[in-house]
Amino acid sequence: MSVPLPPPELVPLSDILPSEPLLLMGAGPVPIPHAVARANGVVINHLGETMDRVIHRVKIMSQYAFQTTSDKIMGVAGPSSAAMEMAISNLLWPGRKALIFKIGTFSGRLGEMALGVGADVTVVEPPVSQPITARMAEEALRADKYDVVTLVQGETSCGVLNQDVPQIVKLAQAHGALTIVDAVCTLSTMPMNMDDWGIDVAITGGQKGLSSIPGVSLIAFSAKAWDVIENHRQVKPHWCLDAIRSQKFWGNQQYHYTAPVPGILALHEALRLICEETLEKRFDRHYMSSKALQAGLEAMGLELFIPEDHRLNSVVAITLPPGVNSGRLRKYMSDKFKVEISGAFGLNIVRIGQMGEQCRSHNLFKVLYATGMSFRHEGVPVDVSSGMAAIEQHLVRDLEHFVD
Ligand SMILES: Cc1ncc(COP(=O)(O)O)c(C=O)c1O
Repeated sequence: MSVPLPPPELVPLSDILPSEPLLLMGAGPVPIPHAVARANGVVINHLGETMDRVIHRVKIMSQYAFQTTSDKIMGVAGPSSAAMEMAISNLLWPGRKALIFKIGTFSGRLGEMALGVGADVTVVEPPVSQPITARMAEEALRADKYDVVTLVQGETSCGVLNQDVPQIVKLAQAHGALTIVDAVCTLSTMPMNMDDWGIDVAITGGQKGLSSIPGVSLIAFSAKAWDVIENHRQVKPHWCLDAIRSQKFWGNQQYHYTAPVPGILALHEALRLICEETLEKRFDRHYMSSKALQAGLEAMGLELFIPEDHRLNSVVAITLPPGVNSGRLRKYMSDKFKVEISGAFGLNIVRIGQMGEQCRSHNLFKVLYATGMSFRHEGVPVDVSSGMAAIEQHLVRDLEHFVD
């Protein structure tokens, strides 16, 4: 008879977590409001009248966030990548052609997924730190015929904004292609009008602009995209990510799989706070906050990686001067100032997030000071005082946007 394994040594979570929570000022996850945290501690039955009402409200509020009237809007149990995978695996299969506009890790991931489901994939990739322009898109669309075009609104990995998304979507439409737009780091931080721009599938995650928890994401399909899905009744590669099965739960309150209830309740609260603030005010708060941060960083003498004309405001990338070690800098910052920012995927940058609760004046002062002092600790002669003065001037000017 086999001997049962003994229980492992007990280690309380408090021994693992830092003694003081770090302020999350990286590329996500971001700090969450108390209402979201509270909701995330509640479990109710995932089926039944109470959950039906929650789902109904989550859908209505998501329509507002995405600016769509589509009723094919649903949550996905999983990271934003799961929502990306749902979009790809329901619209692409062997024989279908995808045009992937890649400007970094995440927009490139959509291409990897498209290859994974057997689609015929063409990748257009400008030099690092450049966006996809409408002209580039037009050229690529003229060269061949595609079923699906994918692109990202804001590329978190390097801090580039694809500001031509509306024109690119229109061009794709004119060439008969459906569009999948990754709005993971941008939704509710800057305008993204799904219906008005004609986007067919829009995706976001919980842990960025929405200031909810990671692990429950959102996806919305246009009527045109839904038609394609409904007419392709083949066995899907992902059972959980089958949009038709998922719509059973999100459209008809029937069992698909046991829904991530606390995450959906958290999302409800995050969306409710967005609706209460209104998108217009939220966009202003994000814009002012990010611009103030950028002014502070530049006044200190730090160089921003992306030129202003296509710089993403949701995630700001700072170029590391020679000799600065990203890991050491960030460790010093979290040990000394209890502030965490992000490294990068192979680029010589660090990144500061400006999404959701990160865009509050108290968080801005703290991250800017911590960043300045940490660069100074790395031997870079930054002028911390000038940076703090610059951010203060911006914030005083725009104070109405920072009423917490
Ligand atoms: C633009 C973008 N798309 C997709 C993802 C993937 O998100 P997740 O890690 O939640 O799967 C991220 C994550 O940072 C992102 O920034």
